[in-house]
Amino acid sequence: METVLSGIRPTGNLHLGNYFGALKNFVKMQHENNCFFFIADYHSLTTHPKPEDLQGNVRQVLSEYLAAGLDPEVATIYIQSDVPEVAELYLLLNMNAYLGELERTTTFKEKARQQSENINAGLLTYAVLMASDILLHNAHKVPVGKDQEQHLEMTRKFARRFNQMYGVNYFNEPSAYNFGEQLIKIPGLNGTGKMSKSEGNGIYLFDDPKEIQKKVMRAVTDSGPTVKNQEMAEPIKNIFSLLEVVSKPDTVSFFREKYNNCEIRYGDLKKQLAEDIIHFTTPIRERIIEISSNDEYLRKVARMGAEKARASASKTIKDVREIIGFKPF
Ligand code: TYM
Repeated sequence: METVLSGIRPTGNLHLGNYFGALKNFVKMQHENNCFFFIADYHSLTTHPKPEDLQGNVRQVLSEYLAAGLDPEVATIYIQSDVPEVAELYLLLNMNAYLGELERTTTFKEKARQQSENINAGLLTYAVLMASDILLHNAHKVPVGKDQEQHLEMTRKFARRFNQMYGVNYFNEPSAYNFGEQLIKIPGLNGTGKMSKSEGNGIYLFDDPKEIQKKVMRAVTDSGPTVKNQEMAEPIKNIFSLLEVVSKPDTVSFFREKYNNCEIRYGDLKKQLAEDIIHFTTPIRERIIEISSNDEYLRKVARMGAEKARASASKTIKDVREIIGFKPF
């Protein structure tokens, strides 16, 4: 049985990018694999959240995980800071992570640009903490979106380096995973780029139907195709990408054909897309409301998850300490 692990930073509600990049496949895989899914609250400290916001965000994301179909009786769902063993592995891996490679990481460069007044060491070593999350349970597969590909590459590098340094074959070299297909990038509807909390272009699982309609109807388009089978401009491709994940294949081919024949009416396309997103998110949204009001259940899930995750983590830490040479006299 393979071990699968993924995580999401609690920096607000989950959007469709998070769902289709990291969660959807997990919901399917949890029954066939040894699955860990966690809330990366240590990671979120790189942006200095207020204490009162941090707790609320963790709670919301936990409710959203459960509402999206993660089953705490089957998968191990936990909060990163409930498993402090990860901090020790992070410290140990940091000894073999080099400044040059950390500075060259695309996400570091991006974040350093976005928050130039707060380029902290946690941001620089973000990839090491992420590798620690993954190696802590010796995961084989990591469901993520395209944006996390480089972090997975670095995780493999750190695993390999550790194994080579100590002459062991302890850590697996995990692969990024999206159901055997290409990694997914869910776009925003503002014309260009990925859906992202920091871009303010997210459609959230928790958005109500009116909000979704408003966001979709505002999506950037162009003046329409003028010749048959015309190559789509990026904003139109993006609308179709979303249609592909939420709508039936028939619907997608119907609108593709309309586009290819220059008969497309973007208003109709957007109306359909909004309807299909609403159809998809409404049951999840209703479950989020129900679950997030059940403190006792959330506490129980977090406690159960922490226990299971710590059992797996402490085994790894014990082994790693021994490999490194921390042994009792
Ligand atoms: P985060 O919180 O930015 O995003 C969580 C997950 O959602 C995916 N995602 C997307 N996928 C497709 N299209 C999009 N537009 C999109 N936006 C976000 C991300 O790829 C990610 O899988 N560093 C991670 C959290 C993390 C983690 C880990 C993940 C920490 N430790 C260990 C896996 C394993 C992050 O910031 O994700």
